[in-house]
Amino acid sequence: MKQVTAAVIGAGNRGTAYASYALRYPSELRIVAVAEPSPVRREKMGECHGIPSNMLFENWEELMAHPRLAEAVLICTQDRMHYQPAIMALKKGYHVLLEKPMATDPAECLKMGACAEDYQRIFLICHVLRYTSFFSTLKKLLDEGKIGRLISIQHNENLAYWHQAHSYVRGNWRNSTESSPMILAKSCHDMDIMLWLAGADCQQVSSFGSLTHFKQENAPMGAPARCLDGCPAEKDCLYYAPRIYLTERTDWPVSAITNDLSLAGRVEALKTGPYGRCVYFCDNNVVDHQVVNLQFANEVTAAFTMCAFSAEESRTIKLMGTEGEIRGHMKKNEIEVVYFGTGRKDLIRLEKAGSGHGGGDDGLMRHFIREIQGEAEAKTGLTSAGISVQSHLMALAAERSRLEKKVITVSDYVTEVMRGWNSAD
Ligand SMILES: NC(=O)c1ccc[n+]([C@@H]2O[C@H](COP(=O)([O-])OP(=O)(O)OC[C@H]3O[C@@H](n4cnc5c(N)ncnc54)[C@H](O)[C@@H]3O)[C@@H](O)[C@H]2O)c1
Repeated sequence: MKQVTAAVIGAGNRGTAYASYALRYPSELRIVAVAEPSPVRREKMGECHGIPSNMLFENWEELMAHPRLAEAVLICTQDRMHYQPAIMALKKGYHVLLEKPMATDPAECLKMGACAEDYQRIFLICHVLRYTSFFSTLKKLLDEGKIGRLISIQHNENLAYWHQAHSYVRGNWRNSTESSPMILAKSCHDMDIMLWLAGADCQQVSSFGSLTHFKQENAPMGAPARCLDGCPAEKDCLYYAPRIYLTERTDWPVSAITNDLSLAGRVEALKTGPYGRCVYFCDNNVVDHQVVNLQFANEVTAAFTMCAFSAEESRTIKLMGTEGEIRGHMKKNEIEVVYFGTGRKDLIRLEKAGSGHGGGDDGLMRHFIREIQGEAEAKTGLTSAGISVQSHLMALAAERSRLEKKVITVSDYVTEVMRGWNSAD
């Protein structure tokens, strides 16, 4: 199969992770250009992939000012910087791999889906969970009718307390006005998985949730704004920054706090950057717990819980059918099928996956490359731009439900968004 060429926009955490596929599978993918404002990141990616200096760009605008430089582009900028480069890339004829969330604005999600159709380009959103052996096995078991007709889904996203503090209190996704609401940033994956497993369009959404813990009123007595400024709660606080970021470990999440991972570099980051702040004195507003109820067109119902207060990070799920139930624990990579009547139980232990997100990162890249190469199997489509648009609209509808305290009918929501879009054009 022919090698695919790609340009990377945003050589941060995700851009580096997807580009690393080219280092592991050089016969399949070659990174030929990068756009990244940070000179350290840009040059690092240039060196890793042997990219000539005239193909290193300071931002996506510069890269897009050139005629098409590769077959594909991997867009891995922050949440609010997806729409413009994605539309431009589709118009320039690139196949596009776009990080989730597609956009934070529902009209932009719809416009991107329409643009991918108009320009007939492959447009894949990084819903990495679809490509894990865990979720693809669940889907296969349902499709094989192992538990009869699916009736209901209970799905939990158990977020580890330290991950919430790192990404959603101190970090990039702490404030919905700068990035995305939690249900979009973290759980658009889960909306997408429930849509896939339910096997029908989502009709109704309701949601509740709040930011309850990570706020000023819960700060320990006498806590300063930064952990390094002599916090009296240093010994007991679960979120004391030096204990998290100044150990021997420098992989993620520590790698996100600075490009200089020496001890001195990290101390400086805690003194001056966002990750040294007391978690109770941050400018965060995203929820630390949220529930969503969903009704699908085939009468399947789903109850989803995202909660920041878990010891262990994992997704757990229970699928209830007319003839049995399936329970799954993603971290353990274990699935149990229980058959009604006989009470027989089958325990499926899946192989531990090598790459990030339970093997989803590599699975997604492989799928994207196969689609570009035009392999028939990939063309059958595990997902499509239209489906990703729907799962994003489910998340955005859930957020509206939470804020407006009402049940949202998805079709009405889409009509309203389209009306706003048409009148604005
Ligand atoms: N699929 C998943 O499971 C998953 C997981 C984590 C994050 N994400 C998403 O991936 C995206 C990137 O997250 P990240 O953790 O890699 O962030 P990051 O901050 O590490 O990387 C973003 C990069 O974009 C660069 N950038 C900024 N302006 C730019 C411009 N004009 N042109 C080109 N590059 C520019 C930044 O300098 C930075 O290096 C986010 O939207 C995030 O929500 C997805």
